[in-house]
Amino acid sequence: MRVLGIESSCDETGVAVYDSEAGLLGHELYTQIKVHAEYGGVVPELASRDHIRKLIPLIDEILKRTDSVGAIDAVAYTSGPGLIGALLVGGCVGRALAYAWGVPAIGVHHMEGHLLAPLLEPNPPAFPFVALLVSGGHTQLVEVKAIGEYRLLGESLDDAAGEAFDKAAKMMDLDYPGGPHIARLAEQGVAGRFKFPRPMTDRPGLDFSFSGLKTFTLNTVTQNAEANGLPDDQTCADIAHAFQEAVVDTLVIKCRRALQECNMNTLVIAGGVSANNRLREKLETALAKINSRVFYARHEFCTDNGAMIAYAGCQRLMVGQTEPLAVTVTPRWPLDQLSHL
Ligand code: KG4
Ligand code: ZN
Repeated sequence: MRVLGIESSCDETGVAVYDSEAGLLGHELYTQIKVHAEYGGVVPELASRDHIRKLIPLIDEILKRTDSVGAIDAVAYTSGPGLIGALLVGGCVGRALAYAWGVPAIGVHHMEGHLLAPLLEPNPPAFPFVALLVSGGHTQLVEVKAIGEYRLLGESLDDAAGEAFDKAAKMMDLDYPGGPHIARLAEQGVAGRFKFPRPMTDRPGLDFSFSGLKTFTLNTVTQNAEANGLPDDQTCADIAHAFQEAVVDTLVIKCRRALQECNMNTLVIAGGVSANNRLREKLETALAKINSRVFYARHEFCTDNGAMIAYAGCQRLMVGQTEPLAVTVTPRWPLDQLSHL
């Protein structure tokens, strides 16, 4: 089965063609970062309009490049969670193409897409596993027995980890999305100059909270600010370093705890923050000590992309799941409400 995947839930337009026999044939990604840069965050209406501009040309390109014109068996599009207008663009285009081609279509849960992205890699993890979903909108630990069999173990009570990275970056006048900028700056930072808290690690449970860390960062930036309102370059690097260590350590502690509670030894990390090299490195070291392993997708499939949607949709389409013709999108959609395969 050959599936066209469409991702348009936020600020990336992603398309891909996944073939159940041959694997991923290709993908295309257009990022709207420049469109939103001057606002310091995603402007929903601008996102929808840009998806409208870019989606059809990208689909055209991927179909030609993968030799898939007239060869698509089904369409998968992100139907939630995400920005409603942005989701509707992908939903309408996906449904319309499926109708015109006389093939089935299915709406895919964006976080299930992220969660399954590491399965696109060579030597993928085997079920069951614990998944850490860390993106701009979500920080969740999930027990994954099989595709669609998800139990929420814990989640952030306030900001998502990616959101904390983005907000910390903004405080130091770094561009959106801030995660990669903080990570780069942190490499120049001196370890130990600042010590940030590891929120909620001293009590039992698997929930997270990153809003206190955000306030701590703001206070540190303010206390060290010079006349221009910002600390000097080295101090910013030191703050970025301390901030990243705090987020990473917090995530590592909770992942280890989740594996132990579920009696499992496989961890999958997915979503934008799983691209963070320090997180990967620290998880690898920590998990080796408890005979466990961490799996993740290549960098370009950690952040939003069409390949993960084509893959996740294909798994459901192959067991016969489809949906009626109406375009339905679900901006808020808990992962554990998904059906089993
Ligand atoms: O999964 P994603 O592309 O979009 C959502 O579904 O939210 O995640 C985007 C988030 C942003 O908050 C971004 O700052 C963060 O992932 N991110 C990173 C890194 N790359 C992206 N955070 C930390 N380190 C990175 N290298
Ligand atoms: Zn995402």
